[in-house]
Order: sequence, then structure tokens, then C-alpha cells
Amino acid sequence: MQPARNGGTVINVEGLRKTYGRLAAVDGIDFSVRRGEIFGLLGPNGAGKTTAVECIQGLRPFDAGSVDVVGLDPRTQADELRQRIGCQLQQSALPDNIRVWEALDMFASLYGSPVDWRRLIDQWGLAEKRTARFHSLSGGQKQRLFVALALVNDPEVVFLDEMTTGLDPAARRVAWSLVEELREQGTTVVLVTHFMDEAERLCDRIAVVEGGHIVANDTPMGLVSSSGGGIRAVFGCDPAADLAFLTAVPGVGEVRRGGRRVEVAGDGPHVALVAHDLAPEDFRVQQPSLEDAFLRLTGHGMEE
Ligand SMILES: Nc1ncnc2c1ncn2[C@@H]1O[C@H](COP(=O)(O)OP(=O)(O)OP(=O)(O)O)[C@@H](O)[C@H]1O
Ligand SMILES: [Mg+2]
Repeated sequence: MQPARNGGTVINVEGLRKTYGRLAAVDGIDFSVRRGEIFGLLGPNGAGKTTAVECIQGLRPFDAGSVDVVGLDPRTQADELRQRIGCQLQQSALPDNIRVWEALDMFASLYGSPVDWRRLIDQWGLAEKRTARFHSLSGGQKQRLFVALALVNDPEVVFLDEMTTGLDPAARRVAWSLVEELREQGTTVVLVTHFMDEAERLCDRIAVVEGGHIVANDTPMGLVSSSGGGIRAVFGCDPAADLAFLTAVPGVGEVRRGGRRVEVAGDGPHVALVAHDLAPEDFRVQQPSLEDAFLRLTGHGMEE
């Protein structure tokens, strides 16, 4: 994880609210993003992530609150804002017959100071598809093209909404490295993702969104230590074995059993097992992960 380049705030959102009829898709959220950081938005389907980032980018009107991106107000300065930010949208489309290079060339021509889009073609693994038409690209290739298009104006802030959905594992890792490179160059990145490994690896800070609210905002490690729950010891043993002794051991919280599988959560459940000479099968100790924190924060934790 890297410190923010100069600590200045580049996005400031206060009391943002967006309704669709009676549904408050974004129900009063506040957060800020520092220059040069990768800021993640995590949340279940329908939490309001896309709505929030599209309001912030000036792509949707909103009902209340204030938004400042690179010193601009997306409600009144959307055109100027578009020159300075990059948008990879969750839902995008291009004309079926446009070729990869033509799309990049066309987008580049819309901006005053475009980067060399030929480099983007190479970086995003599209060299072989340079002259291919949009409709002939695979899902992952289309996705890569949309990310490349988001970067064609050398944006100060880039919004990536599910950037790696549909990418194969190798392409995902390449995409991660490229996002890290963007941070190296000082670009600020807002990353919407459902992948915990991606969020953990890339994000300096993460806001967890649920039901239009931000329920937590911290570093990945901070989220895990405050909400990830305790250590878990997982092992197999005879379903008839009497494990009642476990609940009386200091350091043991919850004991759950399903067939041969036993899961013991707490501060030091593994110590209890080793000390009792239980000889558990396939014994594993699991540290709490970002996924555990996410599931607890969004109400889908161990109880489900
Ligand atoms: N144009 C629209 N009209 C009406 N309701 C909408 C519209 N766009 C989104 N919604 C609703 O607003 C809520 C938030 O949607 P949004 O797309 O922001 O969620 P999300 O967090 O991006 O979800 P996902 O992870 O599935 O992409 C959902 O209940 C959705 O049905
Ligand atoms: Mg979305």
C-alpha cells in the first residue's frame, strides 16, 4: 500500500442523495478521496455504487448533496469535468462495426491532450485485435477496450466500475498491474469491485456501501481488524465426538458443526485444540479476511 502522493483531496462528496421514484438508491453518503490513492467501493448488488459514481462523474442528476471533483461541480461543470476524468462504465456500448483502433482514435480526437492510444492498445493486450470490429470482440476484450478508452485523455481521476468482471485470471493480473502503474503516475483511481482479492491488493481505502449508505470506510487492514471477526480453526472429526469441552476453553467463541466439518471461532481456538490432543483431520487456521469483514458489515456473516 502506498501513501497518497500529496495528500490533497481530489474528490469530496457530502450528503449525496439520489432517488428513483420512491427508492433512495444513494441515501446521503459522505466520503473524500485523496490525490493519488486508489479508493474502492464495495457493496452487494443494488447497493448504489454505480449510481453514486455516475452522479459524481456528472452522468446522472442527483437530488441533494454536494460533489466536488478536481475542484469542479459535476452538476454545472460536467463538460469541463469530462475532459479531466476517465470513465469506464459498468454498462457501455459502441457501434458494432467500429474497429478497435478507430474507437480509440475517435475518443482521442474528443480531447485536447490525448495520450498515445497506440500504447494503450499494447498495454491492454489489444494489439492482435487492433483492426477487429467491436462486435467480434470477446467479452473480456470489450472490457479491456473500455478501460483503454477511459484512459485516452490521460485523466487525473479514473472511475473503473467492475473493471475486471469478465477478464480471465491472467488478464485480471495484468489489469491490476496497470492500475498500480496509474497510481505510480499520480492518477487517482475510484474502483468499484466485487472481488475481495482485487480490493485488498489495490485499494488504499475502501468504502463499504449497503442500501445507499456507507457502512464502513477504512483501509483494507482496518476493515479486517475491526469487522473481520476472530481467528477460525477448521478441521474434520468424527461427528459423534464430544466437543463440549471447547466452549469452556478461554479464547473460544463459537463452535459450529456440519457433518465431519467443525469450525471454531475465537481469539485462540487452535490453541485449545492442540492442547486437548484431539488429533483433528485437515486442520487449518484461517485469519479473518476482507471477505469476512465485508460479509459481516453487509449483514451476510457467519449466521447465514
Ligand atoms: N435508472 C434506474 N431507474 C430506477 N432504478 C434504478 C436505476 N438505476 C439503478 N436503479 C436502482 O437503484 C439501486 C442501486 O443500483 P446501482 O446500479 O447503483 O447498484 P450497484 O451497487 O452498482 O449494484 P451492482 O453491484 O449490481 O452493479 C438498485 O435498487 C437499482 O435497481
Ligand atoms: Mg453497479
